[in-house]
Amino acid sequence: MHGACPALACGRGRDGSSLVERVSGVQVAVGDLGAEVRQVRAALDDAQDRATRAEAALEKRLRAMNTASAKRRNQTRIQLEQLPSEMFDLQRVGQEVSSGTTPLPSAGWWAMTVPSLMYVVSEVLGAPARRSVVECGSGTTTVWLAMALRHVGEGHVWSLEHDPVFAARTRQALAAQGLDDWATVIDAPLAPVDVEGEGLLWYSFSDDALPDDIDLLVVDGPPGAVAPKSRYPAFPRLGSRLVDGACLFLDDTVRPEERAVAAEWSRSPVGGRSVRAVREISRSTVMSVSVGGVSEQR
Ligand SMILES: C[S@@+](CC[C@H](N)C(=O)[O-])C[C@H]1O[C@@H](n2cnc3c(N)ncnc32)[C@H](O)[C@@H]1O
Repeated sequence: MHGACPALACGRGRDGSSLVERVSGVQVAVGDLGAEVRQVRAALDDAQDRATRAEAALEKRLRAMNTASAKRRNQTRIQLEQLPSEMFDLQRVGQEVSSGTTPLPSAGWWAMTVPSLMYVVSEVLGAPARRSVVECGSGTTTVWLAMALRHVGEGHVWSLEHDPVFAARTRQALAAQGLDDWATVIDAPLAPVDVEGEGLLWYSFSDDALPDDIDLLVVDGPPGAVAPKSRYPAFPRLGSRLVDGACLFLDDTVRPEERAVAAEWSRSPVGGRSVRAVREISRSTVMSVSVGGVSEQR
């Protein structure tokens, strides 16, 4: 035996270490290995925790997406169900107010939706009477508002339009309905304006191009793509011309930017006029104007 293993026989390894030293070296190595195994296990536990959390977050997100998509499907279904009655309303009101000879410009897409269009028309046809109408952004609405005013026999719509092509198109549509006396499309190129110290782009026009007393202000332009906060200047610039009880109609408040505009208008009276949202119609918000009673916040 001793001949077979001389190193063991003398108790020394080939490197001269004793058996005790070698055993203790192995113990240290086993201890290190144990620590590494614990580290790997901790890392695995951590990775599993993170995977579980990520899975839970993903499931939550998927549930939220499913809920949102179900809500959208439901809204779409309701809109589709309402469509025939909206078209019926459009046809009925169209027959009531149009001259009945030339096809009317269509609603929706770039133009206002049928419910919004019907609402602004009803503001002219109903009580209180809206006779002095100013509009930001011309098109289908200009023609329908002018037809409504002709139907009631008084009033006028002044429409600011930054794009000469669309200004010409609206004038043509008005002429085709014999409405030249009821509406004026004002060429108003966009230019820098100072609104509460902020440089924005908005319609430029001469002060006397618009009436001093406005009882319906329809804000459907300039398009959001032309400038940031494109519709915001409407109230700061025209607010002091709004009569007590006037209606301020802002389209496209389904978009965050226009929603923010409506909220900012509500917080910031102009020339003693304050506005508050009273109704949501389709993609738009109806606001009511009151003079006095609310102190100026600026
Ligand atoms: C949202 S549109 C609204 C026009 C109008 N209030 C209506 O409902 O018909 C605002 C602006 O877009 C431009 N515009 C009008 N019709 C357009 C069309 N078919 N395509 C692209 N821009 C259009 C015009 O400059 C207009 O002032």
